[in-house]
Amino acid sequence: MTTFLVTGATGFLGSLLVEKLLQDEHRVVGIGRRKKGFLSDDVLNNKNFIFVQADINGQLKHYLSKYKIDGIFHLASCQPSSKVLNYDDFYKGNVATTRQIIEFIKNRRIKFLVYTSTTSVNAKSTKKYLDENSFSYPTTYYSLTKYIAEKLLEIELASLGIKVIIIKYPSIFGKNHVNGLIYTYYKILKSGKDLKIFNNGNIYRSFIYEKDAVQILINAASNMDRLKKFDLFFAGSKDSIKLIKLAEILKRLLGSESRLLVSSKKTSIKENILIDITKAQKILHFDPMTVERGLKKYIAEVESGKQRALELL
Ligand SMILES: NC(=O)c1ccc[n+]([C@@H]2O[C@H](COP(=O)([O-])OP(=O)(O)OC[C@H]3O[C@@H](n4cnc5c(N)ncnc54)[C@H](OP(=O)(O)O)[C@@H]3O)[C@@H](O)[C@H]2O)c1
Repeated sequence: MTTFLVTGATGFLGSLLVEKLLQDEHRVVGIGRRKKGFLSDDVLNNKNFIFVQADINGQLKHYLSKYKIDGIFHLASCQPSSKVLNYDDFYKGNVATTRQIIEFIKNRRIKFLVYTSTTSVNAKSTKKYLDENSFSYPTTYYSLTKYIAEKLLEIELASLGIKVIIIKYPSIFGKNHVNGLIYTYYKILKSGKDLKIFNNGNIYRSFIYEKDAVQILINAASNMDRLKKFDLFFAGSKDSIKLIKLAEILKRLLGSESRLLVSSKKTSIKENILIDITKAQKILHFDPMTVERGLKKYIAEVESGKQRALELL
């Protein structure tokens, strides 16, 4: 039986990844600071799941040294949020945690580490489509610290013979993600209030549905033998979408009475974000949904009450 370490197991994406790995009959060691976060009781009681409630920046080796780990999915992160966060917060959550994981890996027989990063590292690219060759130009503390973590993993693990695979996502949407544009549009359209769509509704954005975000991680692990020592993949839905179209689809799917009001007001990111996922499709056999299909699934899950109450501590 293969054993995987999942950091950020209590989080939005980590909790789903843990569920999927357990369904696929792997053993999982999950780490997070909260008592359960988004982890369900079924997962916490699963005999193949070991939950380590601890801070990665604490005594990581002490907590984890008794487990034989084959591969790591490193998802733990300090995410942008409505709280005011400074550089130190992002540094601790994204760089310091990654350095601890690197120290833990040394002298252990771990085959690979998959790191989840963000397309916002490349947000200022001048190419029409972002892809693995786009240059990096982080413009926020979040994207800067994710970029430092990517590079640390590349540099430090190269000499250890451990494969490092970076998966870069745009905004992920899913039932437990109460953040981001899709959630905001959903809430406004449900309330029947007017929905303002900035930048004239004309800019493109990329999104990825939670199930596809998990699937590419699973595909990376199952294709590991064929991957290079260090590799990078952009993930996203099958298509990118104009914001006005996104609002129209959501309004239709929800049967909302809201008016869609196009506004010329500019948001902080005014550029199109279009992602080319050809490399992941070819090498990882990644076959994601369109944004519209993901939205249908998202609405079905939220409306059937499948959102998980977040236990904070
Ligand atoms: N969500 C998106 O739209 C999106 C887009 C692009 C990339 N990503 C990447 O995808 C990954 C997962 O994102 P997510 O949305 O699932 O984020 P999330 O819900 O905030 O989960 C991250 C988890 O990391 C854990 N964590 C942070 N610092 C820790 C520490 N010092 N020790 C132990 N655990 C720690 C947190 O758990 P505790 O609070 O329990 O410690 C949290 O649950 C991240 O790497 C993120 O950068 C996400």
